[in-house]
Amino acid sequence: MIEPFLSTKTGQFSYFSKQLHLASWQGKEVLDFGGNIGNLLRDPNSTIDEERYWCLDVVKEALERGKLLHPKAHWVFYNRYSFSFNPNGVVGLPIPDLGREFDLIVAFSVFTNTKPSEMFELVEQLKAKLTADGTLAFTFIDPNHWSIGDFHASNFQWRLEDERKRGLLTEREKYDLLRRAQFAEWFMLVNGKHLSVESEAIEPSVEEKTCYVFHTEDYMRSHFPDAAILPPVNNEMQHCCVIKKGYLALPDKSY
Ligand SMILES: C[S@@+](CC[C@H](N)C(=O)[O-])C[C@H]1O[C@@H](n2cnc3c(N)ncnc32)[C@H](O)[C@@H]1O
Repeated sequence: MIEPFLSTKTGQFSYFSKQLHLASWQGKEVLDFGGNIGNLLRDPNSTIDEERYWCLDVVKEALERGKLLHPKAHWVFYNRYSFSFNPNGVVGLPIPDLGREFDLIVAFSVFTNTKPSEMFELVEQLKAKLTADGTLAFTFIDPNHWSIGDFHASNFQWRLEDERKRGLLTEREKYDLLRRAQFAEWFMLVNGKHLSVESEAIEPSVEEKTCYVFHTEDYMRSHFPDAAILPPVNNEMQHCCVIKKGYLALPDKSY
């Protein structure tokens, strides 16, 4: 029995409002995909209308916690399989129909734990849930980016150092992983020490518990050519991929 994951992270609203240059979300229908206990809504700077906030997540306990704090918002359990968060869920379950379209769909640190094939599939499904001029924004971690802060090294070095401090890696193993990942467009670090470089294959003997997925900016640009790929803000380490539905429509031929 794994402990349900309850996120204590703060600052998500401030992050997305800065990335989207949008301070007031009043009157907007908002879907927080992988929103956990609703930290986006709980952010002290949040301008989201509680009754227009929808949180979808694969962790039932997180949604129950969110509902206690914000009963007027909408908390929807999505029983999709996720090895880290919902190992008893249904593999490949489509996102449920919520009976509405959304002006804003955001996902903070969800595709940082999701295999790329699933990310591409879920992004397509989320795009279909936007209003005609709606926006989808989600974060990803570029392994080579040096995030602002006290740690003067790349995001991947930061992750490996964290795993080393937890006793999962030796100094030697850490440098070996850095060397193997250095030119990769994307890769996954499973259970803090198994590296899958540009492959979703994981050794059968490895029982997955954690999976950190890293994508370079260039990789995201090539896979989401209609998106804006923005560097981190507010001292966060995550980049933002912003897709505006209005920009996806074919231009008027007479124009
Ligand atoms: C690192 S946490 C971030 C939580 C929240 N966005 C925050 O910033 O506090 C990742 C969240 O994504 C959820 N998640 C993972 N895979 C998901 C999926 N396929 N659909 C919906 N939620 C998912 C997890 O249950 C977890 O709550």
